[in-house]
Amino acid sequence: MPIGGEALAGRVALVTGAGRGIGAAVAMRLASDGAKVVVGDIDAAAAGTVAERIGKAGGTAAAMRMDVADAGDRERAVEAAAKLGGLHVLVNAAGILIAELPQDVTPASWAKVFAVNVEGLFFTCQAALPLMRGQKHGRIINFSSTGAKLGTAALISYNASKSAVLAITRGFATQFGREGITANSVLPGIIDTSMWEVINAEVGPMIGFAPGTMMEDRVGRIPVGRAGVPDDVAAVVAFLASEGAAYVNGQSINVCGGLLMS
Ligand SMILES: NC(=O)c1ccc[n+]([C@@H]2O[C@H](COP(=O)([O-])OP(=O)(O)OC[C@H]3O[C@@H](n4cnc5c(N)ncnc54)[C@H](O)[C@@H]3O)[C@@H](O)[C@H]2O)c1
Repeated sequence: MPIGGEALAGRVALVTGAGRGIGAAVAMRLASDGAKVVVGDIDAAAAGTVAERIGKAGGTAAAMRMDVADAGDRERAVEAAAKLGGLHVLVNAAGILIAELPQDVTPASWAKVFAVNVEGLFFTCQAALPLMRGQKHGRIINFSSTGAKLGTAALISYNASKSAVLAITRGFATQFGREGITANSVLPGIIDTSMWEVINAEVGPMIGFAPGTMMEDRVGRIPVGRAGVPDDVAAVVAFLASEGAAYVNGQSINVCGGLLMS
């Protein structure tokens, strides 16, 4: 994808979980809209590959090995953004799931999911605030999931964590809207990434699907008739990051082909 859009010229974005899947598509898209991008991922090699792709396409990107659950990594990622000229767009895309039925969840497995999906996301938002408040401009875009609204027993900790994301986003939206900082959640539905390999292999069989068939069942319920691709979600994130979204704040935006209708 050639780089050269103007919508985010002069802006700097930090995208977590940007080494693959939806986060990688978001990083590429924001770069193609003109932003300089910090590509953060716990998988340093994957982050490096995405940053290299952006650079080869004519954009500017810095790769960061970033575990969102680690305070030092969060600070270093914000510093990397500052070196590129500020921090205008924060996209919290890093997320994990553990397939477990309610009766099998342990305090340790619950904590593992929440450490990334909730604490990691919340404290990355918090770490971004000093720069965003200094600029009087910021766009926080947090990844929830339609799972926050639709029940799946074998994803109970994941779905609970994604519901927490909605509350966190509303808190930031309420507190910092007057300072030019908006916060919104995106709720992807069934997006074809490696996350679905895990769901198909581990979640599906726990709730009665033959291995490898759960995604097909879910896609059959989507009114637009197909699974989503990472670029479908990246396009919505790009809009939320843009000037045109200045008056969109505290919203929960489903990107799911109508699987869930708000
Ligand atoms: N794929 C879907 O259908 C779907 C649906 C709803 C919500 N989501 C959400 O969208 C986001 C992206 O999902 P995806 O499908 O691209 O997932 P994915 O598993 O393909 O990619 C997730 C990325 O996050 C990184 N990551 C994991 N733990 C991390 C950590 N502690 N710190 C930093 N990076 C970490 C991984 O290395 C990976 O590159 C996630 O938050 C996910 O929950 C996805």
